[in-house]
Amino acid sequence: MTQAWEIENFLEVRNGKLHVSGVSALELTAQHGTPLFVFSESRIRRNIDRLRLVENEIGCDLKICYAAKANSNMAILRTIKDAGSDIEVNSGGELWKALKIGFRPEQIIFNGTSKEVWEIENAVNAGIYAIQVDSLFELSLIEETARRLEKRANVSLRLVPEIETNTHSGLQTALLTSKFGMMPDEALSAFRQYKNSEFLNLCGIHLHIGSQNPNASPYAEAFEMLFANLVEIYNETGIKLSHINLGGGFPVNYLRDSSMKQHFPEAQSEMFTADFEPADAIRSAWKAVKKAAELAKADHLLENLTLLLEPGRSIISDAGICLTTVRNEKQRPVTQSPTTDNRQPTTDNWLLTDAGFNILLSMETYKWYYHLISAERSDEPATFPYKLAGPLCDGGDVYFDIEGQNRLPDHRLLPENVQPGEVLALLNCGAYTLAQASQYNGRFLPAMVLIRENGEAELIRKRDVFQDLTANDIF
Ligand SMILES: Cc1ncc(COP(=O)(O)O)c(C=O)c1O
Repeated sequence: MTQAWEIENFLEVRNGKLHVSGVSALELTAQHGTPLFVFSESRIRRNIDRLRLVENEIGCDLKICYAAKANSNMAILRTIKDAGSDIEVNSGGELWKALKIGFRPEQIIFNGTSKEVWEIENAVNAGIYAIQVDSLFELSLIEETARRLEKRANVSLRLVPEIETNTHSGLQTALLTSKFGMMPDEALSAFRQYKNSEFLNLCGIHLHIGSQNPNASPYAEAFEMLFANLVEIYNETGIKLSHINLGGGFPVNYLRDSSMKQHFPEAQSEMFTADFEPADAIRSAWKAVKKAAELAKADHLLENLTLLLEPGRSIISDAGICLTTVRNEKQRPVTQSPTTDNRQPTTDNWLLTDAGFNILLSMETYKWYYHLISAERSDEPATFPYKLAGPLCDGGDVYFDIEGQNRLPDHRLLPENVQPGEVLALLNCGAYTLAQASQYNGRFLPAMVLIRENGEAELIRKRDVFQDLTANDIF
């Protein structure tokens, strides 16, 4: 029987055990220990190709700029580059990493709300495709920097479009109440002010409507909003923009196995099951814009236009899993009703793993859900409820909603009689996990393995050793 979480040629049960792109998860943990992140090159490539599908159907060039913040391990970045993607960075550090791994300047765009002068200098000196500008103040800083360096900076202004999506409140980025971007009329005044600037090439506008957006329609709204601004900028200033940037935010289905679905509030379950094709969203958004352009007799503004996307999660999240070992178990009298309806146990069976919010921070901050399976008994029915927690000396380090708001299920379902030593797997862990990991509690940052397309398992990050825990302490 195929398990609901299985994905052909990627996540599969063979001889009852979990395999990732043909490689045994247990052999990997025997070699590298846990917690261990395992990525699949073919899945990453498939996720990029899936976005590129739409390129031939819209009438403009598509530039996919992977959002490095989702996961910027160097081997992952190289894989993404080799798969033909460009890159979006968010700091001088990410810019340095992107250049070091070999992205050419014209493949790089630079976002962020609080850029420092040295970061702007590095971006201007490198001559990147666009610095995305967050405010009028920042624009003046870029102009000043470019003037000092006697260079011309390519800039794109980030607009706040006031589009609300049904994602997590912490992932909304397009509202007036969020911290990002400038008002469209501020942007227009900037285009007026700098249109003849020797040091600024005002070449684009940008927005990002947030992450894990469950519905496709806000993309059409966002695209139309960008287009309306493009027309207005042209009419008011004569500037014909060379690109518009629709941002990222395409969702991943975290509940492909829907066995836990009924344990989420409706909004949460809609968000975690979101599963539309980004290409479909862009295609229909493009159609709407094309129609608007025809009506406004502004078709010429779509000619030679490049459409930028900044996907992070949709490229790397489902390409990575986290393998973790059960390190401890205990029983406690039941305090809340268990997940399964047909059992009324009087005790909670607790499993304590070696994967906590030190490596899966969103589980604590956003109550993010990562589906859990047994890597050793992947074909057995997962019907037995357990309370799960990580290893940290911190009461918030649990796999359920300790604040009692039921944003996560109270229990997880695994085969009966899980014991310390059993290896489990958390799925869809590739995005916003390692990138946010810390050494909290003196815990080592984990190792990472990438399964290459030829089936080779390559270690792409060593597990920390003791010295890493004090590497920058002066004592
Ligand atoms: C400006 C910007 N672009 C792109 C992304 C990537 O979003 P996602 O990983 O949801 O595709 C983010 C993350 O929220 C972002 O802030």
